[in-house]
Amino acid sequence: MRLSRKEHIADNFGAAAPRYEEAALLQKQVAANLSKHLPALEGGADILEIGCGTGLMTRYLLRRYPRAHLHVTDISPSMLAAARENITSASVKWGILDGENPPANLPAYDLIISSMVFQWFEDIDGALEKLGKHLKPTGAILFALPGPHSGAQWQSILQELGYPSGLLEFTAPPGIIAEEIIKRPYAGAHAFLTHMKDLGAHEPKASYRPLNPGHLRTAMRRFDRQGYKDVDWHILYGALKKEEIIKA
Ligand SMILES: C[S@@+](CC[C@H](N)C(=O)[O-])C[C@H]1O[C@@H](n2cnc3c(N)ncnc32)[C@H](O)[C@@H]1O
Repeated sequence: MRLSRKEHIADNFGAAAPRYEEAALLQKQVAANLSKHLPALEGGADILEIGCGTGLMTRYLLRRYPRAHLHVTDISPSMLAAARENITSASVKWGILDGENPPANLPAYDLIISSMVFQWFEDIDGALEKLGKHLKPTGAILFALPGPHSGAQWQSILQELGYPSGLLEFTAPPGIIAEEIIKRPYAGAHAFLTHMKDLGAHEPKASYRPLNPGHLRTAMRRFDRQGYKDVDWHILYGALKKEEIIKA
């Protein structure tokens, strides 16, 4: 049976779940930075987290909103299981959810939050619109995701060679409030590509036809000869109020 793209994405992250946090240094930094934008909320607020992974962002939510009702979700059952093992709070309701296709009976929240997940959506703008319907009137969506300049050094090597890139089409959705370049060190092209696999983030963009082994070796050798020590991750932080998503 052929798996859908979403099933591949979920399986890849699921397989990486046991070692994800060792590899996820960028995601740890992004969760810390996103947490600085968390809004003030009433004690018993309702919060939905999309794509919790192993719970890097969830821990910030629990610390900041100890009395909130947290609904923490992921598309991958293994990632969700890892988060449940890491976080023993009784106040969390756990669930499997494809964040870009929320079911009609999903309730409304004061805050919907997602760190480093929306890049996996097929249609981010459409997803924001659907999620906006599950915000309370004063609710907001807060998110972080990689922007268009992510993976710049690898992308430029492929471009010089005229080869296609399998990296996701990183785009900027509406509502961007901050951005930064985070440089991550990699000991060469092999380390960079292996790292994506260690994270479970190696499903290529939908239209990609993999490089043949010879072209891949050429690209990796050129990357290494350039002496790149870092790869840039362009991180976008966004916030959208319900009224900015659902126009009257
Ligand atoms: C890079 S990890 C980020 C996890 C966590 N938020 C963090 O910052 O470490 C991406 C996560 O999004 C999940 N994911 C991918 N597509 C999703 C979707 N359509 N709906 C919900 N979760 C999704 C993956 O299973 C994975 O756990």
